[in-house]
Amino acid sequence: MNPPSGGIDPASFAPRLVAWQRACGRHDLPWQRSRDPYRVWVSEIMLQQTRVDTVLRYFEPFVRRFPGVRELAAADLDQVLAQWSGLGYYRRARNLHAGARQVCEIHGGELPRSRAELETIRGIGRSTAAAIAVFCFDRPEAILDANVQRVLGRAFGLPRPATAAARRDMWRLAEQLLPRQDLAAYTQGLMDLGATVCKPAQPECLVCPFAADCPRELAPPAASPARRRAPRRSLTRVLLWARSGPAQAPRIWLQRRAGHGIWPGLWCLPEHDDQAGALALAGELGELLRQRELPAVVHQLTHLELRLHPLQVVLRPRHRVTDGALDGGWFALDEALRLGLPAPVRKLLTAARAAGD
Ligand code: ADE
Repeated sequence: MNPPSGGIDPASFAPRLVAWQRACGRHDLPWQRSRDPYRVWVSEIMLQQTRVDTVLRYFEPFVRRFPGVRELAAADLDQVLAQWSGLGYYRRARNLHAGARQVCEIHGGELPRSRAELETIRGIGRSTAAAIAVFCFDRPEAILDANVQRVLGRAFGLPRPATAAARRDMWRLAEQLLPRQDLAAYTQGLMDLGATVCKPAQPECLVCPFAADCPRELAPPAASPARRRAPRRSLTRVLLWARSGPAQAPRIWLQRRAGHGIWPGLWCLPEHDDQAGALALAGELGELLRQRELPAVVHQLTHLELRLHPLQVVLRPRHRVTDGALDGGWFALDEALRLGLPAPVRKLLTAARAAGD
């Protein structure tokens, strides 16, 4: 890529960003309080596709539960998924867990220091490897996640890279812009500017340190019609909420989901296309005593709107339920709430527990 012409002087980009980060960026995030590579790794994985204010609710409990790589590696995947429950994108938790085992087996429990070696760990891509290498080991590495692509694209008047060649060019630009010093403040500045000022839909150009010469100054790029995200697809599913046992101590039937698709490996109320499918499973589990439909719950995923219709049934369970074949089991509510559950299911069950239901 030719050096960008017009607009911001590339040589001034880093010092201005560093000055802005020191004055206006984020400094008190819990993972910034140490250079412990494990904490930084966990935070960077949690921060993928997830806002800082959400991660703030999950980070401390997670590192309290799994204080280091060894504890994480020694845990069962179920315990890790349970702790991750509600944060979404569960593949990240599975990879983090597999990555911790890899770090113990291959690197003696210490994260490697170079970006190239970090990239060999499960779930760590180039940009995340670079962030860890910068924050923990002061390595001169460039990051380029979606936020940074947007910041650099606007600042230097470049389109979003649509081809492998364009992405390579943008990586090269990101590397050329790296300062010799203040790497951590610079890297954090890119993240902070992308998240708080140079936002996708309504950038706050008035408070941007590059407002004076950014080609996009005061011309917030409202998503062009071609780029506007396609409307979310909507999918309707019936959730079988099967209860058994005495009313004061009900047990519910949960099934473990497959390792792929949405909510991989989490425990869930069984999901069906329609009521007939849900009732067929109910019939396998026990004798149907009562049934009622509960209000639908709408859950937004990135590309999908899920309309979940809980169908609550009360059953007299069969003596020999083929638990193994169904990969499920009966759980007391408290037990169920300790498992890794998808957020809407956790919400339903928490409400049921609060209602003494
Ligand atoms: N997004 C990705 N990494 C981040 C970090 N370290 N701080 C804030 N936002 C981030």
